[in-house]
Amino acid sequence: MVQLTVVMNEKNQELENIVSLAKRRGFIYNGSDVYGGLSGTWDYGPLGVALKRNIMNLWWKMFVEDREDMYPVDAAILMNQKVWQASGHTATFTDPLVECSNCHGRFRADKLDNPNKCPTCGSEGTFGEARQFNMMFKTHVGSTEDDTSVSYLRPETAQGIFTNYKNVVDSFYPDLPFGMAQQGKAFRNEISPRDFIFRSREFEQMEIEYFVEPDKWQVSFDALLANIHEYLNALGLPSDKIHELEVPEGDRAHYSKRTIDIEYDFPIGREELLGLAYRTDFDLMNIQNHAGKSMEYTIKGMNTKFVPHVIEPSFGVERSVMAVLSAAYTEDEVNDEKRIVMKFPEHLAPVKYCVSPLVRNKPELVEKARTVYQMLKKKHGNVMWDDNGNIGKRYRRQDEIGTPYCVVIDFETLEDNAVTVRDRDTTEQKRVSISELG
Ligand code: GAP
Repeated sequence: MVQLTVVMNEKNQELENIVSLAKRRGFIYNGSDVYGGLSGTWDYGPLGVALKRNIMNLWWKMFVEDREDMYPVDAAILMNQKVWQASGHTATFTDPLVECSNCHGRFRADKLDNPNKCPTCGSEGTFGEARQFNMMFKTHVGSTEDDTSVSYLRPETAQGIFTNYKNVVDSFYPDLPFGMAQQGKAFRNEISPRDFIFRSREFEQMEIEYFVEPDKWQVSFDALLANIHEYLNALGLPSDKIHELEVPEGDRAHYSKRTIDIEYDFPIGREELLGLAYRTDFDLMNIQNHAGKSMEYTIKGMNTKFVPHVIEPSFGVERSVMAVLSAAYTEDEVNDEKRIVMKFPEHLAPVKYCVSPLVRNKPELVEKARTVYQMLKKKHGNVMWDDNGNIGKRYRRQDEIGTPYCVVIDFETLEDNAVTVRDRDTTEQKRVSISELG
């Protein structure tokens, strides 16, 4: 028991270190921070935007652009309320909620360490019966607030794909199997948002609905699982921290006949990173029944009609970001000095190069350095200029934000047109000719 507490504290410390670096260095801030925050919301700063975009672009390239069988969509966040009635979300998208009769704190019943003890005030036996709390954010569309104008902020991007399935089939008539992909915001009124960006109320998803012939679902399920591992590898996540969990029948979502959760050893423990589900024809059949429109598909040259089945890989962007941040976070020592270094894979690093003149008070050095900076910026976009403090301090700053290369222009550069390039991970420095840079 004592040992467990120690492990928990270390884990909390690891998360604390990441949260603190994320804020200090401009990756991620508390949402509405200046007004005291808004629970479950987070804002991305300049480096966070770049990191998140690099991750989303990597996913987009691997799952959409590099494939011939993927059809992207970008559906509206607000959808007709019938979507959520048909999908089962209005009736069943709930978590069990308990309230403490002493302090009135509200908690998710299935996430309590001790189901009889209030984690806020410590009272025992003050929880009543759990009630089901619907997690969708409800709103009204237009100027009338009645039952007919009700809408919801979407709790998953998936339904925006299903509702466009017929449109895409009519426009493109793709051969089965084919997928439809979407990236975008999702909203859940989580009872207990927690653990930094891991469980938030506003987050982003990257989802694919992959349409297959009913008796061929297993082949596509296995192929997509392999693609998921390729993506996780490209994120630079160590394979020994990635685990597949075959979700047992009783724990699966109501629509799923098979689910594999990919779990990751986050600083908060082993938790779900993403999911892969076999959703059968559950969603298309629901749309067919509720909207009264056929969702059937006919294979070219054949007469038989059927409603395709669906495999769904569903990724949360924030969980990918959190896994990448925690995999990259490293503390080591350079010349007997402790340093923090974010060892992002080069293709995900928010800043690719940092360019500095050795000193800032020599105009000829600064001018040369500006030329190198402009040249690299044109090629790589995310290149930083830093002429503050001494070189050692600049290196530490760049290590903390994970910049793979620092380029320094010194007096020799004016003679030989070569610069010093310092490697983030090895801290080795090399002379490189400007014409060979980048
Ligand atoms: N369309 C299926 C679906 O939405 P889900 O397991 O509820 O399935 C998919 O969510 C992924 O979305 C999760 O694996 C996780 O990565 C992410 N996710 C879900 N709720 C989240 C939250 N409150 N905060 C951050 N990410 C979340």
